Amino acid sequence: MKGLLNLGIKASAVLFSGALLVACSNEKDPGLEYAPDMYHSVALDPYSQVKENLYNPGGMNMRQPAPGTVARGKMGYNMYLSKDEAEVAGVELKNPLEKNELNLAEGQVLYARFCSPCHGEQGDGQGLVGQKFKGVPSYSAGRVASLPEGHIYHVITNGRGRMLPHGSQVNPTERWKIVMYVQQLQGGEVPAAAADTTATGTTPTN
Ligand code: HEC
Repeated sequence: MKGLLNLGIKASAVLFSGALLVACSNEKDPGLEYAPDMYHSVALDPYSQVKENLYNPGGMNMRQPAPGTVARGKMGYNMYLSKDEAEVAGVELKNPLEKNELNLAEGQVLYARFCSPCHGEQGDGQGLVGQKFKGVPSYSAGRVASLPEGHIYHVITNGRGRMLPHGSQVNPTERWKIVMYVQQLQGGEVPAAAADTTATGTTPTN
């Protein structure tokens, strides 16, 4: 009886270690894949494409935007320009917005919020922050007076020298409205309502 029991224990030990061996030696083959749909999405998921998409050119799920597509609110800005290319922007970028009362008025409100603390309501560089910050130029003097619209747009977007970028505060359409207003100030033209910075809100642009 004892002999049989011993034999049984030995046999199960052999079987057990055998199972271990099998388990270890097969590491690279995961074996049967249970419910593969759980791993490989059948839906057309843009980030985990496993099979070729038969319906799109190139077999991709996500398609390239049509050439010349401009995202909403990104009108009129070539993203290929680096942050040091304000001069190039001055030649290549044109304000896509129509110059009218509404755009100018909205530009004025945005200017009062984001620029006048340094540049001053009149654009003379004498805003309350500007007086302390030092080196804020007047828009209507010297080189700055003749900066083209694309250049100003680029400076708002990327900053320049000691002026930090404002691209994250104002979207492209808003930037062009500000540019429109700054161009008035460059000519020393301060619209009658410039002193009134209490106006609220602008029309949504996107
Ligand atoms: C914190 C202060 C500050 C704010 C806010 C600010 N600027 Fe400036 N800005 C400066 C300073 C300082 C300079 C001079 C930069 C230099 O040349 O070092 C400057 C320069 C400029 C220039 C001349 C760039 C050139 O090529 O010489 C323009 C145009 C301009 N700012 C427009 C704007 C507009 C538009 C806004 C609002 C969206 C704005 N700035 C907000 C401080 C400011």
